[in-house]
Amino acid sequence: MLSEKMEAALNKQLNNELYSAYLYLSMSAYSTSIGLKGFAQWFLVQYQEETVHAMKFYKYILDQGSQVKLMAIAQPMTEFKSPLDMFEKTLQHEKFITQCINDLVDFALAEKDQATEIFLQWFVTEQIEEEGNDHEIIGKLKLVGDQGPALLMLDRELATRVFKPPAATAKD
Ligand code: FEO
Repeated sequence: MLSEKMEAALNKQLNNELYSAYLYLSMSAYSTSIGLKGFAQWFLVQYQEETVHAMKFYKYILDQGSQVKLMAIAQPMTEFKSPLDMFEKTLQHEKFITQCINDLVDFALAEKDQATEIFLQWFVTEQIEEEGNDHEIIGKLKLVGDQGPALLMLDRELATRVFKPPAATAKD
């Protein structure tokens, strides 16, 4: 059983993960609209991964005998200046999520809530990978200059990303 404050904090993070999904779905749609189908695929997979993250919080809250309280999901941005702008905004958002996860870990430790602290470790590791992916793509976009044939090559590379279903990624 979670404390009332922990239940509220985990529900807030469930909402943050759903917003992340929404944001990346918006970026996927925008990428399609400017003819970058590979970028669209990359962000679609990111959207799917964020729904997995959200469902991990959903399941954990219920497993603890606590209540899932769904909140309104904020409207994401719908216009971006360039592919580089999208990935810089993605990294910025992921840094925010990393901070949220770190704050949750600190809170779990302060509450001596070992189960939640262990549950959150998966996300601590995941955030390293998420930020790493974004840094890598931002580096490539800066190299190719955000336009021209090199951008289309990067688009083809991003098109190869595939979604790994929860059974292959979750440890639950
Ligand atoms: Fe669920 Fe991208 O962090």
